[in-house]
Amino acid sequence: TPDHHVPRDSRLIRLTGVHPFNVEAPLTTLYNQGFLTPPELFYVRNHGAVPQVLDKDIPDWTLSIEGLVENPITLSFRDILEKYEQITAPITLVCAGNRRKEQNTVRKSKGFSWGPAGLSTALFTGPLMADILRSAKPSRRAKYVCMEGADKLPNGYYGTSVKLNWAMDRNKLIMLAYKMNGEALTPDHGRPLRAVVPGQIGGRSVKWLTKLIVTDAPSENWYHIYDNRVLPTTVSPEMAAQDKKWWTDERYAIYDLNVNSVAAYPEHEETLDLTTSGKIYTAKGYAYAGGGRRITRVEISLDKGKSWRLADIEYAEDKYREYEGELFGGKVDMWQRETSYCWSFWSLPIPVADLKDSDALLVRAMDEAMTAQPRDMYWSVLGMMNNPWFRVMIHREG
Ligand code: MTE
Repeated sequence: TPDHHVPRDSRLIRLTGVHPFNVEAPLTTLYNQGFLTPPELFYVRNHGAVPQVLDKDIPDWTLSIEGLVENPITLSFRDILEKYEQITAPITLVCAGNRRKEQNTVRKSKGFSWGPAGLSTALFTGPLMADILRSAKPSRRAKYVCMEGADKLPNGYYGTSVKLNWAMDRNKLIMLAYKMNGEALTPDHGRPLRAVVPGQIGGRSVKWLTKLIVTDAPSENWYHIYDNRVLPTTVSPEMAAQDKKWWTDERYAIYDLNVNSVAAYPEHEETLDLTTSGKIYTAKGYAYAGGGRRITRVEISLDKGKSWRLADIEYAEDKYREYEGELFGGKVDMWQRETSYCWSFWSLPIPVADLKDSDALLVRAMDEAMTAQPRDMYWSVLGMMNNPWFRVMIHREG
């Protein structure tokens, strides 16, 4: 394959054919790493071949800032490292197709079947996009910033856009990263430079970043238009193929992630030993929300949603607050703020007696906007933002 130069971990599960490379770790393997995912287990979503960038060529990598700016500039990799304040922050990236397998089982969508591990977390280091854009002086008419990667695909280079006022907002933490967990980015994750758009779907975080183009309209890139959308549920694959209007309506483009949660334990095929009375089984998993909103509760039901129990939540930000100061050459000052760009981990001790009469364990979360996961899936043609209550069947011994 064209990716022969890319090192990869054999524990990753392939979700599509041999090429391009689309993988997730087994859910429990991912969960057991803790809040930070080692880069070799970080999910990968590639639309095509990974651009080959040799070590010796990294200093020559350039990023141009063009379009509706008073001061178009081309920055070298070194400028990006040296001319701007460097930030380090824990950020969870989530593919908009996470959990699509559950949707495809009920009714097929056009996307491939992600399990519940289409997400990962790293400490990303780099300058804020806001600072870089400011040095190019966006003009008054400017409303969007388009990003373009170096991967040449059947429909052109991969690209998308976000609103300029988001990119200019330092609290949104949109950054250009060149390190993950203190190490240079690996080829699959955008080496040497990528955008990281916290709280939004992974599809906006353009890898192998070469261009920022400031515009007065959203990106016209093929991948911006025909990917990462939740079309109305009434739109069938045939309707979507016939009429471009469904694809160009910005109202259907996904930006912020929605609220979601998953149980890693019990595992889907795990057999629980429920024979020892008085024993406690601890159910656990992850939850996340979009737009910097914190998860405010995770609830578990053992009786099909008639009654719920409140789980404990551990926040990744709290764990990394102690690193206030310098980390990996970037200033860590973000945990002070009440935003959350990370997944959190929930857990709930359950007396095994309570599990004995239950067929399934259900999980749902709520975020600080009091938005809760829905009971039922919302089917849409691309199968995205899959967040109905998570369900694990309970298999018991004895
Ligand atoms: N950037 C480029 N240049 N090419 C791509 O194929 N895939 C996008 C995004 N950025 C993509 C890209 C999608 S859909 C996702 S979910 C994330 O990258 C995945 O990032 P990761 O592979 O580092 O996990």
